[in-house]
Amino acid sequence: MSKSDAYNLKYHITPTHGLLNDPNGLAYFQGQYHVFYQWNPYGTEHKNKSWGHVVSDDLVNWHRKETALVPSEWYDKDGIYSGGSIVHEGKLYLFYTGNVINKDGTRASYQCAAVSEDGHHFQKLGPLFEHPAGYTRHVRDPKVWKDDSGNWWLIVGAQREDLTGDALVYKSEDLISWSCQGSFLEQEHSFGYMWECPDVLQFPEHDVFVFSPQGLPEEGDQYKNPNQSGYIIGRILESGKFLGTLSDFNELDRGFDFYAPQTFKVNNRILMFGWMSAMTEETEQAVPTIEEGWVHALTLPREIVFADGVLYQRPLHELQLLRQHEVHEGISNSGQWSLPSLAAEVVIRFMEQPDSFQLIIRNSVQIDYDHEQNSLTVWRTNWLTNEKEHRKAVLGHSLAELHMFIESSSIELFVNEGEEVFSLRYFLEDTNERSVRFESDCSEAVLSMYRLQES
Ligand code: FRU
Repeated sequence: MSKSDAYNLKYHITPTHGLLNDPNGLAYFQGQYHVFYQWNPYGTEHKNKSWGHVVSDDLVNWHRKETALVPSEWYDKDGIYSGGSIVHEGKLYLFYTGNVINKDGTRASYQCAAVSEDGHHFQKLGPLFEHPAGYTRHVRDPKVWKDDSGNWWLIVGAQREDLTGDALVYKSEDLISWSCQGSFLEQEHSFGYMWECPDVLQFPEHDVFVFSPQGLPEEGDQYKNPNQSGYIIGRILESGKFLGTLSDFNELDRGFDFYAPQTFKVNNRILMFGWMSAMTEETEQAVPTIEEGWVHALTLPREIVFADGVLYQRPLHELQLLRQHEVHEGISNSGQWSLPSLAAEVVIRFMEQPDSFQLIIRNSVQIDYDHEQNSLTVWRTNWLTNEKEHRKAVLGHSLAELHMFIESSSIELFVNEGEEVFSLRYFLEDTNERSVRFESDCSEAVLSMYRLQES
């Protein structure tokens, strides 16, 4: 199948063909970064999930490997669903959910492991524990970590029998026998109907619980995508439970297309990838690349930094390796430029808090800054309905920098070094359009544009 279409992404992880969703099993193992991803190699619908696999020496240039895990056993015959990984005693362990559809149409899920000595060939170890009582078959996406005393912890997303979302935490001393410690959150809660892809980030002062709740009703500028991904800050107690408040839930990305992120720690840095989609099924099936036999991409990797009570998501400094040619220009009030390529990076640095402005990319995606509110609103045209739609965020600090990674069909906008991020896909009819327009009455800034290597 050809990937020569106009919407191909040049420096993101995409599938050769078929459908890609969540990042899985992120690891640094035997000198290489490993990224696995949910992959349907047989079509562009959500079925037949296996784990696709790419590796990199530098987090920028990726090389495809053989599919790591495919459905083959009674406990995973209808899909190798999401999960994480750990490196232990020189081996790479993958944790995943086996999805099973029984003959009578009922379904089951099993939390499973697989192990590898070389990072390329995996041996399945089978289910780790029984299905928990009081939960529907929606239990999935195990993520494992080790604490300072050498205990292993596993967290998994779940749905309770009363159809509310939850996460369960398990403990093990040997990675083989696991005991359920109950609901991960210390607090009583009712928040959405299912929690997917739970993750835990540990900083010296705080712990952060990241998860993807389904079914949160829209609230003003919040929760506008079909499903959300966000975090709460708190503390993991000795019992393994998390002390934190769901009313502080904060979305990770303010854009249209971000879901099911996963993190991993390498050399004291916490890195994250997300799935660059949060589409309804109708919008997904209308993505033009479907005609070429493939759909979706992962986001660029981000580094997570905890400061002033919020998570900053910075584009990795390694991405600068992609820069091939650069142009710097002063902006005084208004200006128009042309992107050096459709694999580009654009940075706008403001001398002081700017006046209200509009930034229009490729005559299509529009970023409005409101000086009074100190807010950013990002507009795109929905490719299914042809209607304009927007996402908005009020900034916590005055606007100092917009940092954009622009591809033929994706934009990731990092604001103030990752205080907010907007990720989105867009599909223009005029695939040659390259303009960048900035319009304001009174703003001084420096614009830097880079042509990026098309890996
Ligand atoms: C999130 C998710 C996970 C599941 C996987 C299946 O996008 O629904 O909960 O494991 O995708 O592909």
